[in-house]
Amino acid sequence: MSKRTSATIKHRGGIRFCGIKNLSLRGLHDAALLSLALLGMGGPACVRAQSNEATIRFDKATQVFRIDAADTSYILGINENKQVQTLYWGKRLPAGDSFPPAHSDPGMSSFDASNNTTQQEFVAWGGGLYIEPDLKVTFPDGNRDLVLHYVSHSIDGNQLVIVMKDISREVFVKLHYQADEATGIVRRSAEVENRTSDPLTVEQIASGTWNLPRGTDYRLRYLTGRWAGEWALHEQPVQPGKTLLESRRGSTGDQNNPWFAIDKNGANDQDSGDIWFGALGWSGSWQISIEQDQVQQVRITGGPNSFDFGYRLASGAKLQSPYFYAGYSHDGIGSASRLLHRFELGSLLPHAPSPKLRPVLYNSWEATEFNVDEAGQEALAEKAASVGVERFVVDDGWFGQRASDRAGLGDWYVNPVKFPHGLKPLIDKVHSIGMDFGLWVEPEMVNPDSDLYRKHPDWTLNFGGRPRTEGRNQLMLNLARSDVRAYVFAALDKLLNENDIAFLKWDYNRNWSEPGWPAVAPEEQKRVYVDYVRNLYAILDELRTKHPSVEIESCSGGGSRVDLGIMQYTDEMWPSDNTDAFDRLQIQDGFSYVYTPGVMMAWVTDSPTWVNQRTLSLEYRFLSSMQGALGIGANLNHWKTEDFTTARKMVSDYKQIRETVQRGSLYRLVSPQNESEQSVTESVSADRRQAVIFAFLHSSQKFYPYPRIFPRGLNPEVRYGMTALAGKLTSGQPALASGAYWMQQGFDVDLRGDFQAAAFVLQSTGD
Ligand code: DGJ
Repeated sequence: MSKRTSATIKHRGGIRFCGIKNLSLRGLHDAALLSLALLGMGGPACVRAQSNEATIRFDKATQVFRIDAADTSYILGINENKQVQTLYWGKRLPAGDSFPPAHSDPGMSSFDASNNTTQQEFVAWGGGLYIEPDLKVTFPDGNRDLVLHYVSHSIDGNQLVIVMKDISREVFVKLHYQADEATGIVRRSAEVENRTSDPLTVEQIASGTWNLPRGTDYRLRYLTGRWAGEWALHEQPVQPGKTLLESRRGSTGDQNNPWFAIDKNGANDQDSGDIWFGALGWSGSWQISIEQDQVQQVRITGGPNSFDFGYRLASGAKLQSPYFYAGYSHDGIGSASRLLHRFELGSLLPHAPSPKLRPVLYNSWEATEFNVDEAGQEALAEKAASVGVERFVVDDGWFGQRASDRAGLGDWYVNPVKFPHGLKPLIDKVHSIGMDFGLWVEPEMVNPDSDLYRKHPDWTLNFGGRPRTEGRNQLMLNLARSDVRAYVFAALDKLLNENDIAFLKWDYNRNWSEPGWPAVAPEEQKRVYVDYVRNLYAILDELRTKHPSVEIESCSGGGSRVDLGIMQYTDEMWPSDNTDAFDRLQIQDGFSYVYTPGVMMAWVTDSPTWVNQRTLSLEYRFLSSMQGALGIGANLNHWKTEDFTTARKMVSDYKQIRETVQRGSLYRLVSPQNESEQSVTESVSADRRQAVIFAFLHSSQKFYPYPRIFPRGLNPEVRYGMTALAGKLTSGQPALASGAYWMQQGFDVDLRGDFQAAAFVLQSTGD
């Protein structure tokens, strides 16, 4: 951490920079500031130059903490009541700006005391609090009042820890902050420690509260969904009262995704305007409350769902909340998504900052369903390899007595009838034709018709003596139990030890019901909500450590377990079982508001699709899937020669643009939302030398031409040549023009009819 000083640094050219010691000039942001300074636009007497590195400083005199990272400043202070108070969250401020000390709000009236109206970072339920608390506990003597005061803090590089304590009892809370240098995204979490001599029960714990500047013109964006219809984007004004986004399903769920984005309604679009956004890293039941309170302050509080929550904390024990990540952008919702994408690729994914590009995969599920066997899979593998597929994945049906979804889950041995020689011959075959091998598993589940359930009926979530609700004929194993955790790990470890497997598709096809844990004391049973998820993460972590080259996909009957928590342990996500390439445009668009296309699996499947019985050309289906991580899930036994020819070309084209799509910056040029007739996305490579544009038409109307496409994010100075991967431009467009030309003048494509698609590449010529 660099300390603030009053140092004045003399520039060689005679221009004076006032401000910070350890001045580091890195990145474009600094270059821009520097050139402003050199142009004399930075201020009359002296120019404050700043770096975009993450710094955390504490000003003892004012008791103010200042977190600066990338283009964001996050500032908090300790007020006269020893509360930790939010002072600022927004565009990065010049380093020289200082903040006056925090002062609590005096309160509104006798009905709304100061505790409610002061913008606090973390507030416990106590002392007359009516807004959403970050923490609520019950002590064994019946006391439920908790009032936290600042005690101390420590700063270590880009991390800040603030310690708070109850005014009388030995309950401590550590507020953890970590700032990401590249994106300005701040990661928060809270850790409660019970240093009393008795257990207490935590009934609610959030990771913290994000306070927005006071205002009444905010708009909330959020995502909803259901099986085969995930990732629907919604927006609504933030109004007095509270909006609760949540899952009570035991896992992330798709009814809401744990993400929010809030902007100033009317002053925003894809590329301009203030926006505050955040996402929870938690794969259990969760909640994010967006509250406009009685004095028109907007606060966002998030963590595990408080419904049915009750974590008993023994004397000396600690409970740490999940991570809640949030960021700010001055440049609209498009920029907010790009920051999240960059953060995921650069800091979050298992191999960050250099996650491997997703290979083109083939998955047999839609082709064969449960009817997998050695000969059938080998035949499909040969066909997949012939079009350039790099990974062959056997889906459900290969294990136990799995003839349908009625049996077999829990019994992770290779079915001896379907694969009489084990998986080895198939894996060898797959390797011999140039692909690696992947396998489907659903380790957290058990069918009542399985050896595992017959042996351990007590291993499932259940309330003693009560019915056990099945979903897809299966029950949930209680992964919070140490014996279940050990079993699941051992089963997967054995599978990976005995077979040369490069990839696991980890599925999860139902939600929780009857979440009881009869084997432990009643007061301990609700730990299941936390311990289950912690054990899931632990298993994934241990498997990755022991088998470091194995990659894992998070799938939950589609996109029902996609969040920043599971993303730390898995390499890719399955957004939806809905593989209709037209529906996918909207599904993928919604997904991309939070998650990078670099983890978004998208398969080309059969037409007409099973979902809507819609007929789409193979080229359309490929182009839809090429906007993410390309896979093929069609029944290749039904393909004609020309289908293989098309596929070979599309897979080869994809490999030329894959890095741009998976690692580049995504721009939404025309949104597929709100029944739009068109959808256009653009991905620009990190070095801005390549841009790939995908354009889709639902149905042309009344002889109107396709809207002109205006690319973004190009280097205006560089010249780009345009080529068509599919479809064609209208005549009269230049073969070569500057980035400025393409962005200002745009280009027209010749798309007419129903369900048409095109794709273009802008490639810099190097001058
Ligand atoms: C649900 C997944 O989303 C599908 O892709 C497939 O793997 C099935 N489960 C298999 O049961």
